[in-house]
Amino acid sequence: KVTWPGVIERYRSWLPIDRSTPVVTLGEGGTPLRFAPRLSERVGANVYLKLEGLNPTGSFKDRGMTMAVSKAVEEGSVTIICASTGNTSASAAAYAAAARIRAVVLIPSGHIALGKLAQALVYGAEVIQIEGNFDEGLRLVRELAETHPLTVVNSINPYRLQGQKTAAFEIVDELGSAPDAQFIPVGNAGNISAYWLGYQEYHKAGIIDRVPRMYGVQAAGAAPIVKGAVVPEPETVATAIRIGNPASWTLALRARDESGGAIMAATDEEILSAYILLARDEAVFCEPASAASVAGLLKTPVVPGSSVVCVLTGNGLKDPDTAVSQVQVPKVVGTSMKEVAKAIGL
Ligand code: F0G
Repeated sequence: KVTWPGVIERYRSWLPIDRSTPVVTLGEGGTPLRFAPRLSERVGANVYLKLEGLNPTGSFKDRGMTMAVSKAVEEGSVTIICASTGNTSASAAAYAAAARIRAVVLIPSGHIALGKLAQALVYGAEVIQIEGNFDEGLRLVRELAETHPLTVVNSINPYRLQGQKTAAFEIVDELGSAPDAQFIPVGNAGNISAYWLGYQEYHKAGIIDRVPRMYGVQAAGAAPIVKGAVVPEPETVATAIRIGNPASWTLALRARDESGGAIMAATDEEILSAYILLARDEAVFCEPASAASVAGLLKTPVVPGSSVVCVLTGNGLKDPDTAVSQVQVPKVVGTSMKEVAKAIGL
């Protein structure tokens, strides 16, 4: 008997699933909500990190993918398709392997982290690199699916948000209440919308008596919601959120406005400095896009003593190139004890 059955079994009554739906799960969800002592001290609030990089394929996408793929199989679909900055493609590839169906993924050539590309390929997806960005990929996917028997598993598939809202449930179930504020990276804007859905549902059901302020963080070079206009050529080191025309734009605005939160931009410099700070102060290795949530927190005044959740959406191992570009290349020395001792200052 498994102790954690995945998000569909755990939150079945909150999801559009019935007994006949074949559940395709890899045991996603149930991720740690870790207290961050040094970050808490720095900002004067109780800060918790939701470690979504510990999902089966290393990102929050698995929560949505278990739903999207289960429903696709229920509906008799044999091919799923998505555009992706990397994590959705890795997750789609894994759940398609589990379901023994085809996965086709469109990725922006040269702009996806190496670990994500490796995952999609090793899980056996059909990977197409396009000479264009995520937004162009998503447009192609939508057009293809209009005229061909393909199930789109981007977050425009409503089952994706249904699955992803379970992360908000987990936070509340663990804290015993909603946090006062939540910071989350924003790319295509599905995840912030999914969390907001989850908090609202728990609120309506009387499980919580208040909802958190929702703070979304975009990369400064890919901040269409902050600017109020599509960004035709988005650019950022945080390739996961290198998106100029988010599909869930309106839903994200609703989350912001109904919660009394904000959507802000963080520069690549701020993102990378939060990325290193998380590793050195809290021993969490997340990917650059995930650190955007902490970059946002670090420049937002929060109520002293309040509770704050930062969602760390993906694992640092996904993007080894950015990781090693941010640190000193290690010295190479000979194999004598003297040389090693000297190199470490003994
Ligand atoms: N963090 C990571 C690590 C992501 O991979 C993404 C999105 C986001 C944050 C933003 O979430 O799009 O719901 O606002 N990645 C998508 C992908 C676009 O294709 O993997 P969002």
